[in-house]
Amino acid sequence: MPNKITELFNIKYPIIQAGMIWNSGWKLASASSNAGVLGLIGAGSMYPEVLREHIQKCKNATQKPFGVNVPMLYPNIQEIMDIIVEEEVEIVFTSAGNPKTWTSWLQDKGITVAHVVSSVKFALKAQEAGVDAIVAEGFEAGGHNGRDETTTLALIPMVKEQIKVPLIAAGGIATGKAMLATMILGADGVQVGSRFVASEESSAHIDFKRVVVDAKEGDTQLTLKELAPVRLIKNKFYNDIQQLYKVSPTPEQLKELLGRARAKHGMFEGDLEEGELEIGQIAGLIHDIKPVAKIVEDIMNEFEIAKKEVSEL
Ligand SMILES: Cc1cc2nc3c(=O)[nH]c(=O)nc-3n(C[C@H](O)[C@H](O)[C@H](O)COP(=O)(O)O)c2cc1C
Repeated sequence: MPNKITELFNIKYPIIQAGMIWNSGWKLASASSNAGVLGLIGAGSMYPEVLREHIQKCKNATQKPFGVNVPMLYPNIQEIMDIIVEEEVEIVFTSAGNPKTWTSWLQDKGITVAHVVSSVKFALKAQEAGVDAIVAEGFEAGGHNGRDETTTLALIPMVKEQIKVPLIAAGGIATGKAMLATMILGADGVQVGSRFVASEESSAHIDFKRVVVDAKEGDTQLTLKELAPVRLIKNKFYNDIQQLYKVSPTPEQLKELLGRARAKHGMFEGDLEEGELEIGQIAGLIHDIKPVAKIVEDIMNEFEIAKKEVSEL
C-alpha cells in the first residue's frame, strides 16, 4: 500500500517498529524490516560501541531499510550521532529533546529524520526544525511520554490540523483496526511499541514478556511526571513511588528512589518487583508472544478486513 510513509522510508507497509530501550536491538529491528515495516534500533539503552555492534549486525541480517531511535536525554549524543553517520544509517528517529539540535546536522549528511512529540506545540516545533516526518504519541503509549495526557484519539486530528509533514500515530496501536482508525483521523502511518515487546525477537526478558501478555486494562499508569513522565506496570516499584508521593517528595527524593538501571533490571533482566516495566495501556489487548512476521501479517490482514467493513457501514 504505497503512501507518503512507505515512500519516505522505502518500506512495504506504513508501520514503524518503535525504538524501545532494552527491547529493540538488532534482532527485533532486522526482523521488523524483513517483515516489510521499518525496524528501529533503540539507542537509548546502548553505549556508543554497543550501538555500533547492533547496527553492523542489523546490516548483516537485513537488506531492507532500518533506522535508529535516539532519545536525546541521554549522554554521549555526539558520539552516538557520529557512529550513525560512520555506519551509514539512513534513518533516525529523535525523541525526548529539542528537534532543532540535530535535524539539519543529520539531514546534511543525507539522513531522513523523524521526531517524536506528544503535543501540537511540539509538533509545530518539529515541523519548524524541518523534520521529514512527525510521530505524535498519545497518553496511552508505553515508556516516556508527555505531561499533557492527550490521548491518541484526540492528538492525531489536532496535530493533523496544524502540520503539513507526514504524520505517524503512536500510542495504543497494536491491531489493524487501531491502525485504520488513526489513519482515518489523519495519520499516514503508525508506530507500534508495546505489541513488539511481546514478540519472539524483542530483547525483553521472557518474564517481562509474560507480564505484558498477562496485563489487563488498568494495570499500567503514567507516573514520575516531575522527572520524566513514564507509563509502566503497577508493580512493587510503582507502589513505592506512590508511597513516596504521600509525603510530597522533592524531585531529588524521586530521583533517589528511581536510582540507576531500574529499566534494565526490569525489562532486560526480569526483576518484576524492583524493576521499571515500561509498557502501554494496549498491553491489555496483547495475549500472546509471536514472531514479528506474524504480528505484522495479523495487523495487515485485520487492517484490510476492517477497511472493507468500514466501507460497508
Ligand atoms: C518498553 C518501551 C520502551 C520504550 N523506549 C523508548 C525509547 O527508547 N525511545 C523512544 O523514543 N520511545 C520509547 N518508547 C515509546 C515507543 O517508541 C512508542 O512510541 C510507544 O511504545 C507507542 O505506544 P504503544 O506502546 O502503545 O505501542 C518505549 C516504549 C516501550 C513500551
